[in-house]
Amino acid sequence: MAARPIIIDCDPGQDDAVALLLALASPADLDIRGITAVAGNVPLALTERNARLMVELSGRKDVRVFAGCSRPMLRKLVTAEAVHGQTGLDGCPIHAPTVPLERQHAATFLVEELLAAPDDAITLVPVGPLTNIALALIMEPRILPKIREIVLMGGAFREGGNTTPAAEFNIYVDSHAADVVFRCGRPITVLSLDVTHQALTTPSRLAAFRKLGTKVGGIVGDMLAFYDRHDIAKYGMPGGPLHDPTTIAFLLAPDLFTGKRVSVEIDIADGPSLGATRVDWWGVTQKPANALWIERLNADGFYALLTERIGRL
Ligand code: BDR
Ligand code: CA
Repeated sequence: MAARPIIIDCDPGQDDAVALLLALASPADLDIRGITAVAGNVPLALTERNARLMVELSGRKDVRVFAGCSRPMLRKLVTAEAVHGQTGLDGCPIHAPTVPLERQHAATFLVEELLAAPDDAITLVPVGPLTNIALALIMEPRILPKIREIVLMGGAFREGGNTTPAAEFNIYVDSHAADVVFRCGRPITVLSLDVTHQALTTPSRLAAFRKLGTKVGGIVGDMLAFYDRHDIAKYGMPGGPLHDPTTIAFLLAPDLFTGKRVSVEIDIADGPSLGATRVDWWGVTQKPANALWIERLNADGFYALLTERIGRL
């Protein structure tokens, strides 16, 4: 089967970085048309640099990186240096990347790449705030039929929020953009905290990356060891949740996941629930389902896949 065309929209972030590496390690399965960066975990100048560092590290210098929006649509940017460190990628060696930044704005790239594609062709994989994706949808609604599906990391239902009691980081940071995306009408698959909190970076899973004996395996082990210290303290779990790579793993091995089609709405009212994902799990509103909400993941299978693919780089 031909590799599936995808565009990854991200705000690296160590877990975004591992998602990028997983996709970059899988050219037979995934045809990465471009990587778009957005402000989120750290400001845009760092997220686009970090995306380029991962492309360089993977050796896949054919993959282009575009910088997008520097802040959310309506609100001020909220960042997450407490989790990711000042660089966004603490634990990873940082230098000026040799991979260039494309001149085109990420939203313009999204519009042009999608318009040039056949219907149902391109899968969007957003793993940061949804500003770039919403902007592209607003700029050019004719891109809608070109989107095969949107497989995103964001939101929370059973687990509660990680940024406010009600809201997960990606949806909270640009709730208005998330509202645009969840109303867009194309198929959406959601990898929320409900499932990423099952994907824990336990010591033995981190050791497996280092045991690969490769440069990339060592860097993944080091980055995730920095990254998980925050959440281990916060949640008292044996490892930190590895959020963003679950999206790419879902595309590579959907059998590792189970979920249910439900109606999901974004709370955009100012107040304590801003950015909450309202999941109608029991169909009480009788609103049509707009998303596949993933509920469970085979965590050992997920880490086996991830470790094997990282070992290919
Ligand atoms: C999400 O927020 C970010 O900090 C992570 O990169 C992930 O995309 C988890 O809430
Ligand atoms: Ca992210």
